[in-house]
Amino acid sequence: MNKEKRTAVIAGNWKMNKTPSEAKALVSAIAERAAGKCGCEVVLCVPYVDIPAAVEAAAGTDVKIGAENVHFKESGAYTGEVSAAMLVECGVTHVIVGHSERRQYFGETDTTVNLRAKAGLAAGLTVIICVGEVLEQRQSGITSEVVSMQTKLALAGISAEELKKVIIAYEPVWAIGTGLTATPEQADEVCGIIRGVVAELYGDECAEALTIQYGGSMNDKNAAELLAKVNVDGGLIGGASLKPDAFGAIIDAAQ
Ligand code: PGA
Repeated sequence: MNKEKRTAVIAGNWKMNKTPSEAKALVSAIAERAAGKCGCEVVLCVPYVDIPAAVEAAAGTDVKIGAENVHFKESGAYTGEVSAAMLVECGVTHVIVGHSERRQYFGETDTTVNLRAKAGLAAGLTVIICVGEVLEQRQSGITSEVVSMQTKLALAGISAEELKKVIIAYEPVWAIGTGLTATPEQADEVCGIIRGVVAELYGDECAEALTIQYGGSMNDKNAAELLAKVNVDGGLIGGASLKPDAFGAIIDAAQ
């Protein structure tokens, strides 16, 4: 199986932006831009409170709605958390876990990333697992070790069957929100390393079928070059996913 046979997924990560009414308008604008573009799947991961409005606005369009995190327990005394079943009932199909901002600011660890991924998969969600090195790690030449370890730990206990609903997003932390983008070669190299780790764990066929995204200042100008790389099957897009024209151009680049 080669790149052409994998599903390209262009996913927006809105982070802590947009109220429900703003979300409705933005989803509609992006859906209009994405209409009929069947060369990739389009997903918008939005803040929890925006989910009902976003799902309503996306109904009948080619856009799917995701969440930005999920808790690993089914229910209980976990103030401020949201379960996978809650997301599913709201019409969510995808969820991001292990985003570097969660790891950096909210104490997310490889262990909790793994638990969250498993909870999402158990509920039938497609899980976008984020991995990526910080600048010091890249400069010390340990990017491969860091990303390989994060990938292995995130996938611990996940079956080959479950892996079909996993997307891995390679997001070098130094490229997120900084305007610094990995070069297409850097992105391709690390996405290839991740695919190699998955091949070791699950075999070549599973690894060849896995969608691996690049994320980190992807925009309308650099998307085409990044997405052309053999190991890059899509993008996880922050800033540019808040702009229908820029995000639309990234969707076009994935066709
Ligand atoms: P960015 O964010 O596109 O704004 O760099 C990417 C991400 O955090 O997923």
